[in-house]
Amino acid sequence: MNVNNKPCRTIWPDPTRPEIIHIIDQRQLPHRFEVEELRTLTDFVTAIRDMHVRGAGLIGATAGFAMYAALASHEGLPDQRVLLQAAAALVAARPTARNLAWAVERQLAAITAEPDRGRWQATAFAEACAIADEDADFCRRIGEHGLAIIQAISEKKGGAEVNILTHCNAGWLAFVDYGSATAPIYAAQAAGIPVHVWVDETRPWLQGAKLTAWELGQQGVAHTLIADNTGGHLMQHGLVDLVIVGTDRTTRSGDVANKIGTYLKALAAKDNNVPFYVALPSSTFDWEIRDGVAEIPIEQRPGAEILAITGQTASGSLATVRIAPIDTQTANYAFDVTPARLVTGLITERGVCQANEAAILALYPETR
Ligand code: MRU
Repeated sequence: MNVNNKPCRTIWPDPTRPEIIHIIDQRQLPHRFEVEELRTLTDFVTAIRDMHVRGAGLIGATAGFAMYAALASHEGLPDQRVLLQAAAALVAARPTARNLAWAVERQLAAITAEPDRGRWQATAFAEACAIADEDADFCRRIGEHGLAIIQAISEKKGGAEVNILTHCNAGWLAFVDYGSATAPIYAAQAAGIPVHVWVDETRPWLQGAKLTAWELGQQGVAHTLIADNTGGHLMQHGLVDLVIVGTDRTTRSGDVANKIGTYLKALAAKDNNVPFYVALPSSTFDWEIRDGVAEIPIEQRPGAEILAITGQTASGSLATVRIAPIDTQTANYAFDVTPARLVTGLITERGVCQANEAAILALYPETR
């Protein structure tokens, strides 16, 4: 998508020095647009763990390049041990998003299928690029399928503006391009359908206020930032036509883990008959599990994220200030699980389906 009217992805190899991978340091947005260079496995693990990059699709794509970096920075002929150590460090960096382990497993399979260890580095680079390109392509297709949903609502409203609520950032910044929840919105905008997005600020990391508001602004999509608990009120007053969110891990039965607070939005949507859609590429499905509440690992992050807040001062510098008493106990759960029964439909790269095992497996019969 665009940054200052120029197309940009969230991760890309340097065109002349392929040992360098570029990312946007998302901790600086929206105040600064800074590109960071990653070279070593440690650089990549730090970037994922400390959220220089974040969002399910993007941490998957970053892990793909990290496996390449682990080989590129290894002296001598690499062996299985190098691969497995890198894989373990990456998977441990963040536990909830399925795309991370999925990309690592895909890399391990591609690299070890190459019998010539001298070619492992080149194989890993090609696979990392393929993972990133596929992520972008799948999100583009999610946009095409989700467009039909927005189009139908727009027609029902006689062409009046469609109001979409989203939580967190499942935009292009959470993927390689387009985003999952935002792809249908961008497709609707391109089709000339008037859309307006309610952007949940998304405490405590503020992905909505910092990232979604910024990227929608860059694409010229009308949007309004709201405090996290506003959605229910808006729905009661008919001001939300549909909700579209992303997901970090979805079970084969359609339970959905997403940023903390998503579950409450789904409950409010159900109570107010507002359609609640979840957009995801197939790399987010965890085909091994059915019960999301019992089986999806929920990341707990440092309490400092709740105790303090970072923003820009009047002089333009970034500053962190404390907002709670110094010795306050915290619990910082990063995700929650929305049961499938609250989900109107899943928007995937293969089409839209109901959130139940039969419907999901009808779209993905190879996972039966
Ligand atoms: O902690 P984050 O920012 O990596 O969380 C991921 C998210 O942004 C959301 O949960 C998002 O809605 C799904 S990721 C496509």
